[in-house]
Amino acid sequence: MSRAIAVLGGTGPEGFGLALRWARAGEAVIIGSRDAQRAQQAAAKIKQRAGEQAQISGLENSAACAATDLIVLTIPFEGHAPLLKQVKAAIRAGSIVIDATVPLASSVGGRASRTLGVWQGSVAQQTAELVPKGVFVVAAFQNTSAEVLNGDSSVECDVIVCGDDPNANQIAHALAAKIPGVRAIDGGKLENARILEHITALLIGLNIRHKGHSGIRITGLPEAAYQSGR
Ligand SMILES: NC(=O)c1ccc[n+]([C@@H]2O[C@H](COP(=O)([O-])OP(=O)(O)OC[C@H]3O[C@@H](n4cnc5c(N)ncnc54)[C@H](OP(=O)(O)O)[C@@H]3O)[C@@H](O)[C@H]2O)c1
Repeated sequence: MSRAIAVLGGTGPEGFGLALRWARAGEAVIIGSRDAQRAQQAAAKIKQRAGEQAQISGLENSAACAATDLIVLTIPFEGHAPLLKQVKAAIRAGSIVIDATVPLASSVGGRASRTLGVWQGSVAQQTAELVPKGVFVVAAFQNTSAEVLNGDSSVECDVIVCGDDPNANQIAHALAAKIPGVRAIDGGKLENARILEHITALLIGLNIRHKGHSGIRITGLPEAAYQSGR
């Protein structure tokens, strides 16, 4: 990628893990946070782990959005709509927003193994309503375990990419494929994000039941489906 990747909520385990993997792959990454200093501290930790050559910086969320046109959302559902409203003015037309947010019931004090209904159908569709016109939204990484991303081993899971713009989908696909062990698969329209988000609650339940860090692998598709993301 020639553009930097801004990871909003990149101080938390999911965003940090993705940022770490992309920094290791040679991508320029900006950690976004509500607090610039916290973002810089997370960026420094990633530099320690990824090496001095890592292109990683930390900025307050709006400044991170203003600095690039490729944005990844890794924030808890309760903060999702308020954050998007806050950063909206900094997101330029033509940007791509990749949403990994899951509407877990824990956002309102319930169980993390249950999801909440989202009026628009999914968090990613809510994002599509909240971003400025001309911004492309893609759903991906909801089923990728932060624990695994934050380790050093190959991630060994599939990332299903859903979105309505083929170019934006392709960019998300390429980003997923930068993570060792990840295969990206085209999952169709953005409306399918609803299903991806629900799968996460199931995975969390499996993790609790079996004490692990589960992910998903899709079998039985032609080889091309795993190679091209189409
Ligand atoms: N953890 C996983 O294994 C995993 C896997 C797949 C998907 N996800 C999804 O990815 C998202 C992030 O997961 P996580 O475990 O990294 O979450 P998290 O630790 O709860 O939050 C991530 C970051 O979001 C920011 N944040 C917290 N509350 C906020 C609010 N009300 N408004 C704006 N920003 C807020 C915080 O950064 P600052 O305080 O620095 O702003 C925090 O470090 C969630 O939607 C989760 O469901 C998680």
